[in-house]
Amino acid sequence: MKNQLTIALSKGRILDETLPLLKAAGIEPAEDLKKSRKLIIPTHHPHINLLIVRTTDVPTYVEYGAADAGVSGKDVLLEHGTQSLYEPLDLKIAQCRLMTAGPVGGKPQSRRRRVATKFVNIAKRFYATQGYQAEIIKLYGSMELAPLVGLADEIVDVVDTGNTLRANGLEPRELIAHVSARLVINKAAMKIKHKLLQNLIQDLESAVNKRE
Ligand code: ATP
Ligand code: PRP
Ligand code: MG
Repeated sequence: MKNQLTIALSKGRILDETLPLLKAAGIEPAEDLKKSRKLIIPTHHPHINLLIVRTTDVPTYVEYGAADAGVSGKDVLLEHGTQSLYEPLDLKIAQCRLMTAGPVGGKPQSRRRRVATKFVNIAKRFYATQGYQAEIIKLYGSMELAPLVGLADEIVDVVDTGNTLRANGLEPRELIAHVSARLVINKAAMKIKHKLLQNLIQDLESAVNKRE
């Protein structure tokens, strides 16, 4: 419906930081998201519903127009590919870095290295542009374990404080990209629901600027 907006969000660290921004933009969930088992959450805004989806699924919902807008980490967007989405706003939350990392004091393999990551496309692109040969091993989490048990020589993962690397005898090596959460918008919706989405972008932008 032309006067209805759906926004895809994921539970976890992005949600905690997104809710205050949405609130400042006049969008408040009508239910406690922490307690509710519902996946479509109405808000006190008459035209806006929230969808609760898996982090890595946000770009998919928005790309296909199942959600008009969404909030997604830049890491997830780089992995998914963003040609089919608008990315009008950096929300400057959930900030971290995509890095390669390996055992402390270890030297990167000069030949073909084995790399464990959930960011397969990002890793392939990065090693190719650096001219390194790499065998990429897809994992779905706990990447830091892989070098400890001989599954991989290094990993590609997000790093914030570096505590997880340190706790596992690893150190950061090369920076691949700076990461923060972005507002993404379906291209067709941007035309059809221009006013509602333009207002959303503006309201969120002023909320982000006020935080700085
Ligand atoms: P899932 O738990 O569904 O497997 P996930 O681990 O990617 O997915 P979160 O941990 O909630 O989910 O992370 C969501 C987003 O927050 C990531 O896509 C990334 O952009 C950012 N992020 C991840 N880890 C950190 C961190 N340690 N510090 C800051 N931002 C982070
Ligand atoms: C994320 C990420 C790293 C860690 C980096 O994990 O996958 O393991 O944070 O943060 P740090 O540099 O501050 O230690 P998360 O806490 O989201 O756990 P997860 O495995 O459930 O995704
Ligand atoms: Mg995580």
